[in-house]
Amino acid sequence: MKNSVIAICPGSFDPVTYGHLDIITRASKMFHKVIVVVADNSSKNCSFTPDERVEMIKKCIPNLENVEVDKFGGLLADYAAQKGATAIIKGLRAMSDFEYEFQMALTNKKLNPNVETLFLTTAAENMYLSSSMVKQIALMGGEIESFVPAVIRQDIINRITK
Ligand code: PNS
Repeated sequence: MKNSVIAICPGSFDPVTYGHLDIITRASKMFHKVIVVVADNSSKNCSFTPDERVEMIKKCIPNLENVEVDKFGGLLADYAAQKGATAIIKGLRAMSDFEYEFQMALTNKKLNPNVETLFLTTAAENMYLSSSMVKQIALMGGEIESFVPAVIRQDIINRITK
C-alpha cells in the first residue's frame, strides 16, 4: 500500500459508536490521512443534524492526528475525487451487511474508477452493534456505556429521551 493514500470513512454516524470508532482508529494506522465523512443527505431519518454528528465524532477522537471529520451532501464518488482519496473504508459486521455494501462498492467503482472500497472486519464485540440499537436502548432507559464513549453519552440520552 502506498503510504500517501488518503482514505475516506463514510457513514451516517447517527450517532457514532465504538464499532465505527474501532474502524476509524484502525484505518488511521493504515493510511496517511483519513477523512471521516458524515452523509448530509442520508435517506435515513436521522436523530442528529450532520453538524452535530461531525461534532460528536470529533469529541471521540481528540488524539487521532491524521483523521479529519467532514460532511458531504452529494455522491461519495465525487467527494473522493475532490479530496484526492483513493480508498473508501467500511466496516463489515454480519453477512447481512454484505449485499448492501457490495452494491455500494460496485456503484462507487463505476462512478469513480480511481477509488477502491476496502472492508475491515468488525471486532467481535461490535458484531451486532449499530447506531439504531444504541438509540433504542437509550430510549428505553437502558445503559449505553458499552456502546458509545462517555463524552457523547449524555448528548445521546438528551436527544433521544426529550
Ligand atoms: O452508515 P451508512 O448509513 O451505512 O452509510 C451509507 C453511506 C452514507 C455511506 C451511503 O449512503 C453513501 O455513500 N451515500 C452518499 C450518496 C452516494 O454516493 N450514493 C451512491 C453510492 S451507493
